[in-house]
Amino acid sequence: MFDDVAARYDLTNDVLAFGQTRAWRRATVRALEPSSGDVILDLAAGTGSSTVPFDEAGAFAVPCDFSIGMLSEGRRRLPTLPFVAGDALRLPFADGTFDAVTISFGLRNVVDTEGALREMLRVTRPGGRLVICEFSQPSHELFRTVYLEYLMKFLPQLATKIASNPEAYVYLAESIREWPDQDALSHIIQRAGWVDVQWRNLSGGIVALHRAVRL
Ligand SMILES: C[S@@+](CC[C@H](N)C(=O)[O-])C[C@H]1O[C@@H](n2cnc3c(N)ncnc32)[C@H](O)[C@@H]1O
Repeated sequence: MFDDVAARYDLTNDVLAFGQTRAWRRATVRALEPSSGDVILDLAAGTGSSTVPFDEAGAFAVPCDFSIGMLSEGRRRLPTLPFVAGDALRLPFADGTFDAVTISFGLRNVVDTEGALREMLRVTRPGGRLVICEFSQPSHELFRTVYLEYLMKFLPQLATKIASNPEAYVYLAESIREWPDQDALSHIIQRAGWVDVQWRNLSGGIVALHRAVRL
Protein backbone atom coordinates (compact mmCIF):
# COMPACT_ATOMS: atom_id res chain seq x y z
CA MET A 1 0.00 0.00 0.00
CA PHE A 2 2.78 2.50 0.92
CA ASP A 3 4.47 1.81 -2.44
CA ASP A 4 1.40 3.31 -4.16
CA VAL A 5 1.11 6.52 -2.11
CA ALA A 6 4.84 7.42 -1.94
CA ALA A 7 4.88 10.33 -4.42
CA ARG A 8 2.15 12.45 -2.79
CA TYR A 9 2.39 10.99 0.69
CA ASP A 10 3.98 13.96 2.52
CA LEU A 11 1.82 16.66 0.95
CA THR A 12 -1.40 14.74 1.58
CA ASN A 13 -0.45 14.06 5.18
CA ASP A 14 0.30 17.68 5.88
CA VAL A 15 -3.02 18.83 4.47
CA LEU A 16 -4.99 16.18 6.36
CA ALA A 17 -3.17 16.93 9.64
CA PHE A 18 -4.00 20.67 9.31
CA GLY A 19 -0.32 21.53 8.90
CA GLN A 20 0.54 20.19 12.37
CA THR A 21 3.09 17.67 11.08
CA ARG A 22 6.08 20.03 11.39
CA ALA A 23 5.27 20.89 15.00
CA TRP A 24 4.91 17.17 15.82
CA ARG A 25 8.28 16.46 14.19
CA ARG A 26 9.98 19.26 16.16
CA ALA A 27 8.52 17.89 19.41
CA THR A 28 9.79 14.39 18.52
CA VAL A 29 13.34 15.69 18.07
CA ARG A 30 13.15 17.59 21.38
CA ALA A 31 11.97 14.42 23.17
CA LEU A 32 14.93 12.45 21.85
CA GLU A 33 17.46 15.21 22.73
CA PRO A 34 19.99 14.19 20.06
CA SER A 35 23.61 15.13 20.64
CA SER A 36 25.79 15.95 17.69
CA GLY A 37 27.30 12.67 16.46
CA ASP A 38 24.61 10.40 17.96
CA VAL A 39 23.79 7.48 15.69
CA ILE A 40 20.00 7.36 15.40
CA LEU A 41 17.73 4.86 13.67
CA ASP A 42 14.56 6.37 12.22
CA LEU A 43 12.47 3.27 11.67
CA ALA A 44 9.57 3.15 9.19
CA ALA A 45 11.04 6.40 7.87
CA GLY A 46 9.10 6.33 4.61
CA THR A 47 10.46 9.03 2.30
CA GLY A 48 12.76 10.32 5.08
CA SER A 49 10.75 13.39 6.10
CA SER A 50 10.80 12.22 9.72
CA THR A 51 14.60 11.73 9.50
CA VAL A 52 15.49 15.23 8.26
CA PRO A 53 15.05 17.04 11.63
CA PHE A 54 17.47 14.57 13.30
CA ASP A 55 19.98 15.07 10.50
CA GLU A 56 19.62 18.85 10.89
CA ALA A 57 20.21 18.48 14.65
CA GLY A 58 23.68 17.09 13.88
CA ALA A 59 23.00 13.37 14.49
CA PHE A 60 23.96 10.61 12.06
CA ALA A 61 20.38 9.62 11.29
CA VAL A 62 19.62 6.41 9.38
CA PRO A 63 16.21 6.17 7.71
CA CYS A 64 15.01 2.56 7.39
CA ASP A 65 11.82 1.28 5.77
CA PHE A 66 10.61 -1.87 4.00
CA SER A 67 8.66 -0.13 1.20
CA ILE A 68 10.75 0.10 -1.95
CA GLY A 69 8.39 2.81 -3.28
CA MET A 70 8.94 5.01 -0.21
CA LEU A 71 12.71 4.39 -0.23
CA SER A 72 13.04 5.25 -3.94
CA GLU A 73 11.08 8.47 -3.51
CA GLY A 74 13.19 9.30 -0.42
CA ARG A 75 16.50 8.65 -2.20
CA ARG A 76 15.38 10.87 -5.08
CA ARG A 77 14.40 13.76 -2.78
CA LEU A 78 17.04 13.41 -0.06
CA PRO A 79 20.11 11.84 -1.72
CA THR A 80 22.45 12.61 1.20
CA LEU A 81 20.52 10.49 3.73
CA PRO A 82 21.76 6.87 4.17
CA PHE A 83 18.48 5.04 3.39
CA VAL A 84 18.44 1.35 4.38
CA ALA A 85 15.86 -1.25 3.34
CA GLY A 86 14.74 -3.29 6.35
CA ASP A 87 11.79 -4.89 8.10
CA ALA A 88 11.02 -3.60 11.60
CA LEU A 89 10.57 -7.20 12.75
CA ARG A 90 14.02 -8.34 11.51
CA LEU A 91 16.25 -5.32 11.46
CA PRO A 92 19.44 -5.60 9.41
CA PHE A 93 21.61 -4.18 12.23
CA ALA A 94 23.80 -5.73 14.93
CA ASP A 95 22.86 -5.60 18.63
CA GLY A 96 23.48 -2.23 20.31
CA THR A 97 24.24 -0.32 17.08
CA PHE A 98 22.31 2.88 17.87
CA ASP A 99 22.39 5.58 20.56
CA ALA A 100 18.67 6.05 20.00
CA VAL A 101 15.81 4.66 17.96
CA THR A 102 12.76 6.58 16.86
CA ILE A 103 9.63 5.80 14.87
CA SER A 104 7.09 8.35 13.65
CA PHE A 105 3.65 7.34 12.44
CA GLY A 106 5.01 3.86 11.70
CA LEU A 107 4.56 1.60 14.74
CA ARG A 108 0.80 1.44 14.10
CA ASN A 109 1.52 -0.01 10.67
CA VAL A 110 3.83 -2.81 11.80
CA VAL A 111 1.88 -6.07 12.18
CA ASP A 112 3.52 -7.08 15.50
CA THR A 113 3.86 -3.99 17.76
CA GLU A 114 5.63 -5.71 20.65
CA GLY A 115 7.91 -7.65 18.28
CA ALA A 116 9.01 -4.38 16.64
CA LEU A 117 9.65 -2.81 20.06
CA ARG A 118 11.82 -5.83 21.02
CA GLU A 119 13.80 -5.45 17.78
CA MET A 120 14.25 -1.73 18.47
CA LEU A 121 15.52 -2.61 21.97
CA ARG A 122 17.98 -5.14 20.52
CA VAL A 123 19.61 -2.63 18.15
CA THR A 124 19.82 0.12 20.83
CA ARG A 125 22.91 0.29 23.06
CA PRO A 126 22.51 -0.01 26.86
CA GLY A 127 21.50 3.45 28.12
CA GLY A 128 20.12 4.34 24.67
CA ARG A 129 16.71 5.97 24.10
CA LEU A 130 13.47 5.30 22.31
CA VAL A 131 10.97 7.93 21.08
CA ILE A 132 7.70 7.00 19.42
CA CYS A 133 5.52 9.61 17.72
CA GLU A 134 2.14 8.13 16.88
CA PHE A 135 -1.52 9.02 16.53
CA SER A 136 -3.36 8.42 19.79
CA GLN A 137 -6.62 9.17 21.62
CA PRO A 138 -7.61 12.77 22.46
CA SER A 139 -8.01 12.96 26.24
CA HIS A 140 -11.01 15.33 26.33
CA GLU A 141 -14.22 13.39 25.71
CA LEU A 142 -16.02 16.00 23.58
CA PHE A 143 -12.88 16.67 21.51
CA ARG A 144 -12.43 12.90 21.07
CA THR A 145 -15.99 12.56 19.71
CA VAL A 146 -15.56 15.42 17.21
CA TYR A 147 -12.15 14.14 16.17
CA LEU A 148 -13.38 10.57 15.58
CA GLU A 149 -16.20 11.98 13.48
CA TYR A 150 -13.62 13.90 11.36
CA LEU A 151 -11.46 10.80 11.13
CA MET A 152 -14.12 8.32 10.09
CA LYS A 153 -16.34 10.52 7.86
CA PHE A 154 -14.65 13.72 6.72
CA LEU A 155 -11.07 12.55 6.23
CA PRO A 156 -11.87 9.71 3.77
CA GLN A 157 -14.06 12.15 1.77
CA LEU A 158 -11.35 14.81 1.72
CA ALA A 159 -8.78 12.19 0.71
CA THR A 160 -10.75 11.34 -2.44
CA LYS A 161 -10.06 14.93 -3.61
CA ILE A 162 -6.33 15.19 -2.87
CA ALA A 163 -4.82 11.73 -2.34
CA SER A 164 -3.50 9.41 -5.06
CA ASN A 165 -4.95 6.42 -3.20
CA PRO A 166 -7.97 7.43 -1.04
CA GLU A 167 -8.46 3.86 0.29
CA ALA A 168 -5.18 4.30 2.15
CA TYR A 169 -6.86 7.05 4.20
CA VAL A 170 -9.83 4.85 5.08
CA TYR A 171 -7.24 2.39 6.39
CA LEU A 172 -5.51 5.28 8.22
CA ALA A 173 -8.75 6.30 9.96
CA GLU A 174 -9.58 2.74 11.01
CA SER A 175 -6.08 1.96 12.21
CA ILE A 176 -6.01 5.13 14.37
CA ARG A 177 -9.38 4.27 15.95
CA GLU A 178 -8.21 0.77 16.80
CA TRP A 179 -4.74 1.75 18.07
CA PRO A 180 -4.06 1.37 21.85
CA ASP A 181 -4.42 4.55 23.90
CA GLN A 182 -1.52 6.25 25.69
CA ASP A 183 -1.48 3.99 28.79
CA ALA A 184 -2.04 0.79 26.84
CA LEU A 185 0.90 1.59 24.54
CA SER A 186 3.08 2.37 27.58
CA HIS A 187 2.40 -1.14 28.90
CA ILE A 188 3.30 -2.74 25.56
CA ILE A 189 6.58 -0.77 25.51
CA GLN A 190 7.36 -2.00 29.04
CA ARG A 191 6.48 -5.60 28.16
CA ALA A 192 8.98 -5.39 25.28
CA GLY A 193 11.73 -4.69 27.85
CA TRP A 194 12.09 -0.90 27.86
CA VAL A 195 12.26 1.03 31.18
CA ASP A 196 11.39 4.56 32.36
CA VAL A 197 8.44 4.75 29.97
CA GLN A 198 6.83 8.22 29.83
CA TRP A 199 4.38 9.86 27.47
CA ARG A 200 2.90 13.23 26.68
CA ASN A 201 0.16 14.47 24.38
CA LEU A 202 0.55 16.72 21.35
CA SER A 203 -2.46 18.57 19.91
CA GLY A 204 -4.69 17.39 22.77
CA GLY A 205 -3.82 13.72 22.24
CA ILE A 206 -4.35 13.48 18.48
CA VAL A 207 -0.71 12.46 18.68
CA ALA A 208 1.25 11.11 21.66
CA LEU A 209 5.00 10.98 22.21
CA HIS A 210 6.24 7.99 24.19
CA ARG A 211 9.81 7.75 25.33
CA ALA A 212 11.77 5.08 27.14
CA VAL A 213 15.29 3.90 27.90
CA ARG A 214 17.20 0.66 27.44
CA LEU A 215 18.79 -0.56 30.70
C1 LIG B 1 2.84 6.50 7.70
S1 LIG B 1 4.42 6.11 7.06
C2 LIG B 1 5.48 7.09 8.09
C3 LIG B 1 6.69 7.59 7.40
C4 LIG B 1 7.57 8.57 8.19
N1 LIG B 1 8.07 8.01 9.42
C5 LIG B 1 6.85 9.86 8.46
O1 LIG B 1 6.68 10.22 9.63
O2 LIG B 1 6.49 10.56 7.51
C6 LIG B 1 4.59 4.50 7.70
C7 LIG B 1 5.76 3.73 7.12
O3 LIG B 1 5.88 2.50 7.84
C8 LIG B 1 6.50 1.57 6.96
N2 LIG B 1 6.38 0.23 7.52
C9 LIG B 1 5.26 -0.45 7.85
N3 LIG B 1 5.57 -1.66 8.32
C10 LIG B 1 6.94 -1.75 8.31
C11 LIG B 1 7.87 -2.75 8.68
N4 LIG B 1 7.48 -3.94 9.15
N5 LIG B 1 9.18 -2.50 8.53
C12 LIG B 1 9.61 -1.31 8.04
N6 LIG B 1 8.79 -0.31 7.66
C13 LIG B 1 7.46 -0.53 7.79
C14 LIG B 1 5.73 1.81 5.66
O4 LIG B 1 6.42 1.31 4.55
C15 LIG B 1 5.62 3.34 5.65
O5 LIG B 1 6.66 3.94 4.91
